[in-house]
Amino acid sequence: MFEGVLKKILNHPEKVDLEEIAFLLSDSRVDEKLFALADEVRQKYMGKDVYLRGIIEFSNYCRNDCLYCGIRASNRNVKRYRMKADEIIHRARVIYQMGVKTIVLQSGEDLFYDEESIAYVIKEIKKMKVAVTLSIGERTYEEYRYWKESGADRYLMRHETADEQIYEKMHPGDSLQNRIEHLRKLKQLGYEIGAGSMVGLPGQNDYSLAKDVLFVYELDADMVGIGPFIPHPNTPLSNFKGGDLQKTLKLIALTRLFLPDSNIPATTALGTIHPSGRQLALKCGANVIMPNFTPSPYRAQYVLYPGKICIFEKDTACGECTKQLIKSAGYFVSNSLGYRKKIATE
Ligand code: SAM
Ligand code: FES
Repeated sequence: MFEGVLKKILNHPEKVDLEEIAFLLSDSRVDEKLFALADEVRQKYMGKDVYLRGIIEFSNYCRNDCLYCGIRASNRNVKRYRMKADEIIHRARVIYQMGVKTIVLQSGEDLFYDEESIAYVIKEIKKMKVAVTLSIGERTYEEYRYWKESGADRYLMRHETADEQIYEKMHPGDSLQNRIEHLRKLKQLGYEIGAGSMVGLPGQNDYSLAKDVLFVYELDADMVGIGPFIPHPNTPLSNFKGGDLQKTLKLIALTRLFLPDSNIPATTALGTIHPSGRQLALKCGANVIMPNFTPSPYRAQYVLYPGKICIFEKDTACGECTKQLIKSAGYFVSNSLGYRKKIATE
């Protein structure tokens, strides 16, 4: 019976409903077939190439208080830091010299960096032949526009969960509707947009996860980052259980079937809950890895969740390490800029 649903996703994804996706998520007999099919679809549309995105976590200041996040404003145990513009640009140059062609600039929601300072960093980095991705949270439409004009290519803004009630619980004073509006604005402005979610948030069930799959499909997200929720001790969710490996892999695989040409990372959080988490994700439809290039001492202070891998790696070691990881999983390291290659639809 599940084979019929898998076929329907491939041929008529627009006709698949929540019930059918939740059923696939709930039944472990589906797993082997689902994972093999996701890898087949991925190889059909993008071969064995894996894109590298070098990430610089340039500030851990955050004005928000997301219940799950280790750098939330209320966590007084965080040693806060901000990198200077020239430090960020210098770091981007190091990444570029290592052959990594996308620079991801990530931070908490930190208004210290105004429109001009972010634009300056983008313009300087764009002098190299790289794509620039911003992952700095919700800002104004004018800022998004200005940064696009300054050369930014992509914007990561996970929707975190497509379940409205859970979204509101996790983000005091915010709504899913607002998040969706930001994602739509970014898309209208011509960014490649990255949505995505956590697996295992308190209150989630297979229906909530099914909503995540349909959400990114309907949004036609260019990138989808999916990782397990990992409870952080200094947050209100410290006593909750984290997300599990198998469910996260299933969500990645289903997302690949719905969005054959989107870029899906094998996330650091997956590598944190299981030593082979990222390799397994590559075999289930993921095609991107984001090596950490945040310089020390900052890297150890950007702790979204405990046990985060790569914190104690030396300087640029994650670049080489992830290349090895890709090869050992049987895939190739791509040296392209890694834009989404949209499949033509008639
Ligand atoms: N501030 C920006 C934003 O909110 O889009 C970018 C940085 S934010 C810290 C990056 C991502 O980390 C979030 O989108 C969230 O999904 C993930 N994250 C935060 N806390 C986490 C946790 N405890 N477990 C797993 N992932 C977490
Ligand atoms: Fe910083 Fe959520 S706590 S964006």
